[in-house]
Amino acid sequence: MQNDIKIILDSIKQSSIKIKQLIEEGDTSKSTNQNSTGDTQLKLDIASDVIIENDFKTLDIVKQCVSEEQESIVDINPNGKYLIAYDPLDGSSLVDVNLSVGSIYGIYTDDFKGSNIIASVYVVFGPRVEMVVAFDGEVKMYRLLKGEFQFVQNIKLNQKGKLNAPGSTQQCWLPHHKEMIDDIFASGYRLRYSGGMVPDLHQILLKGGGLFSYPSTTDLPKGKLRQLFEVFPFAFIYETAGGGAIDGKQRLLEIPTTHIHDTTPCFFGSNDEIDLVKEVYSKNG
Ligand code: F6P
Repeated sequence: MQNDIKIILDSIKQSSIKIKQLIEEGDTSKSTNQNSTGDTQLKLDIASDVIIENDFKTLDIVKQCVSEEQESIVDINPNGKYLIAYDPLDGSSLVDVNLSVGSIYGIYTDDFKGSNIIASVYVVFGPRVEMVVAFDGEVKMYRLLKGEFQFVQNIKLNQKGKLNAPGSTQQCWLPHHKEMIDDIFASGYRLRYSGGMVPDLHQILLKGGGLFSYPSTTDLPKGKLRQLFEVFPFAFIYETAGGGAIDGKQRLLEIPTTHIHDTTPCFFGSNDEIDLVKEVYSKNG
């Protein structure tokens, strides 16, 4: 399996070098297409998606892939072993204001469901390009230097952090959620939220810990973030780094998926913060 993951990582590295160039030089305007939730796709979303899909299509170990930007699963090799769900350019609307964005990949076996994830990867495109990989009990970070991804460090979360990244529109938060976030700030946490899931979660991981939340809200009771493309890959990374990832009460990697575009409320963090969320949410609904 180690070797298979290396083959998939090599493909992701190759796609990422092309996506970096696209971000630097590509057209940031809107296309005329909409994705499955009705968001107008940017030309960059579509172009990144094509790059990744074409690179995966050359790998015979990949059975299927599915992108956040597409309606359905793409069959690659019926005898392949791995299923890959990916978000080609998460937070792409931040490119035109020159904030960081990222690609997210979940590698599954058998079926696309949280409990079948065996590795996950994200690539953050910021002032530097970094790739973080969770596999085989470790989270490793690589940086693109002179055209190649080079190992930089292992990532481990502390028991408790200092950063708080609370997602969605505050007006739509439920009262217990608002109270919890207010209490977290009142205890000294700093606000760190760019609106890009990849850089926001990357910052919490690298600065030792904290909490990222995208809760159930009055306008989006099932949250906004997608299980297969965004939530499960990060849940796997946070758990492997020694932290936690829950929907309020339950481990995210245990929740069922009925449709490839299902969303879920989600909380990622170091253990003390996740315990606090569990305590608050177990008393409220
Ligand atoms: O999935 C899209 C996304 O842009 C994430 O990268 C980000 O965490 C989230 O939406 C931000 O949503 P909001 O603006 O509602 O907090």
